[in-house]
Amino acid sequence: MNKYSRIIGTGSHFPEKIMTNKDFEKFLDTNDEWITSRTGMKERRVAEGDVFTSDLAAEAAKNALEMAEVKPTEIDGIIVGTFTMDTTMPSTACRVQEKIGAGNCFAFDLTAACSGFLYGCNVANGLIKSGSAKKLLVIGAENLTACLDWRDRGTCILFGDGAGATVIAADSEPGIHSVHTYAAGEYGELLKQDNIGTKFLRSLTDEPIEDNMIHMKGNDIFKIAVRAMADAAQEAAEAANFKPEDINWVIPHQANLRIIDAVAKRLSVPMEQVVINIQQYANTSAATIPTALDQYVREGKIKRGDNIVSAAFGGGLTWGSMSFTF
Ligand code: ACO
Repeated sequence: MNKYSRIIGTGSHFPEKIMTNKDFEKFLDTNDEWITSRTGMKERRVAEGDVFTSDLAAEAAKNALEMAEVKPTEIDGIIVGTFTMDTTMPSTACRVQEKIGAGNCFAFDLTAACSGFLYGCNVANGLIKSGSAKKLLVIGAENLTACLDWRDRGTCILFGDGAGATVIAADSEPGIHSVHTYAAGEYGELLKQDNIGTKFLRSLTDEPIEDNMIHMKGNDIFKIAVRAMADAAQEAAEAANFKPEDINWVIPHQANLRIIDAVAKRLSVPMEQVVINIQQYANTSAATIPTALDQYVREGKIKRGDNIVSAAFGGGLTWGSMSFTF
């Protein structure tokens, strides 16, 4: 009997344009050394022209479906974790449904900032285990560069664009062991963007509008993020009965290499077993975990049967974790 939910396919997609740390030196009082040592980031991708979140998400979804050997029409539902939707309505998920030809399924966006992918996995896991769905697409996709304040060196250097997708299906083998999701709305002001809709944002060519940009009190967030992500990661490992030696990989949200290091230490897992692509793509919010997972799967590093703990933290504030066997 298919009583478990399991990730059976992964995919990712990034826009082609690369922006390096050196590129910021041309218009900001910053440098490669500061960005690298404080964050671990070296470069990020930037979507431009007619490419928006749904375009990145649709390409990632196609890759995940291909790996899973699932046709778009077999999908029961599409959940897109994003806070940079092309437009608030139609949702990014509905645009993805049309772009991949998914046909008759449900589709909705889930807004939990950088925790959006893990929140989506929680929903998918519940739907599948309850028998309400058999095959779901859970995607994390963002076009963060459309809502950055390029004058603010404390935020604009941190973010990039990209999308990662997973096909989660009912299976006879255990996959997802546990998902834990949390929020603390009382800290909402620490990391916020008051307006949305990246199609609209990118059309603004005159004076940028403050409310449309991401504002973050990075230092305050840092302290909360370290504790929340480490606690949640430990909770997921314990719920799956994973001892440190049972964990093959940790996939943390890629917000800062120093936060990643703290999470690995709490789980007593060496850095060689921590999935890191922050150098290449920076913080792509809801897309960091599924893109990192896909990269390591396609490079042959993550293999079927590997035990994985994942944790994320983001605006809201929101955070969460998941333990699963790939
Ligand atoms: N280049 C050079 N100097 C800089 C830069 C920069 N790009 N940015 C900030 N500085 C300066 C500051 O002005 C400050 O200078 P001062 O001491 O003269 O005032 C100094 O560097 C230290 O600034 P801090 O903000 O204290 O630097 P910190 O070490 O905290 O690093 C960072 C900043 C990278 C943002 C860090 O706080 C961080 O990673 N925070 C957590 C981010 C996070 O997890 N976000 C959640 C997910 S994102 C989401 O949900 C969308």
